[in-house]
Amino acid sequence: MNKRRRIYEGKAKVLYEGPEPGTLIQHFKDDATAFNAKKHALIEGKGVLNNRISEYIFMKLGEIAVPTHFIKRLNMREQLIREVEIIPLEVVVRNVAAGSLSTRLGLEEGSQLPRSIIEFYYKKDELNDPMVSEEHITAFGWATPQEIDEIMQLALRINDFLVGLFLGIGIRLVDFKVEFGRLYDNEQVRIVLADEISPDCCRLWDAQSGDKLDKDRFRRDLGGVLEAYQEVARRLGVLTENPRPRGAGPVLVASNPVNGKPN
Ligand SMILES: Nc1ncnc2c1ncn2[C@@H]1O[C@H](COP(=O)(O)OP(=O)(O)OP(=O)(O)O)[C@@H](O)[C@H]1O
Ligand SMILES: [Mg+2]
Repeated sequence: MNKRRRIYEGKAKVLYEGPEPGTLIQHFKDDATAFNAKKHALIEGKGVLNNRISEYIFMKLGEIAVPTHFIKRLNMREQLIREVEIIPLEVVVRNVAAGSLSTRLGLEEGSQLPRSIIEFYYKKDELNDPMVSEEHITAFGWATPQEIDEIMQLALRINDFLVGLFLGIGIRLVDFKVEFGRLYDNEQVRIVLADEISPDCCRLWDAQSGDKLDKDRFRRDLGGVLEAYQEVARRLGVLTENPRPRGAGPVLVASNPVNGKPN
């Protein structure tokens, strides 16, 4: 059997060379990290859920003509994607104050923002992904002004769509992080949505109870991480099998969230 060529291993995913030039295989691991990997754990079954959830969301976005890297899901943990040149920015869209925005500006977690707000963070683990402005992005050549416009338009379209999608299943989309890349297609270069959209990079609160259904359960030691991700998958209608490992013990439910500083 041929060994696949591993292109990159990140904190949550591995990229392998794909079957055709210009394609990659994106493999979802069970690793959970927070605070720039200072906190790390394995959550068995998380990768399977994120693969499914991200597949569903990217497919739905494709249906409304948002360009994405997604081609098709290959198996429980892997999807075939188009290789892009990642723009080194984490693009965060916020609807409700939470996390680092609450901390920085002294806003109560859960307060509705006057409008959706886009923030940019420079993807650089060594620097802890610092927040940057459009001035930095253009001065250092990470993206052109036209690309920033396109990214912001796409980010807002994605947000509008996802807010509705999640509200329909009783979930409040508080904020999320996305990545974009350049897709080289003969003479053309297009900006497309890349990476993943899953409870690892969204804040999802139950609309009724306010319960957190996302990675904050891990960041803040609330317990029930896998169960929360399963609940999101179940409500989206993508939970076909139970990825919970055999013999998983009872779930800790803590009641003392720390005021962490996630994105
Ligand atoms: N279509 C794509 N083409 C090329 N690279 C991609 C594509 N989609 C996502 N990536 C990159 O693949 C990697 C996925 O791995 P993972 O999310 O685990 O990384 P990470 O630990 O978050 O680190 P970082 O994102 O800082 O590199 C990321 O670097 C992401 O930017
Ligand atoms: Mg990542």
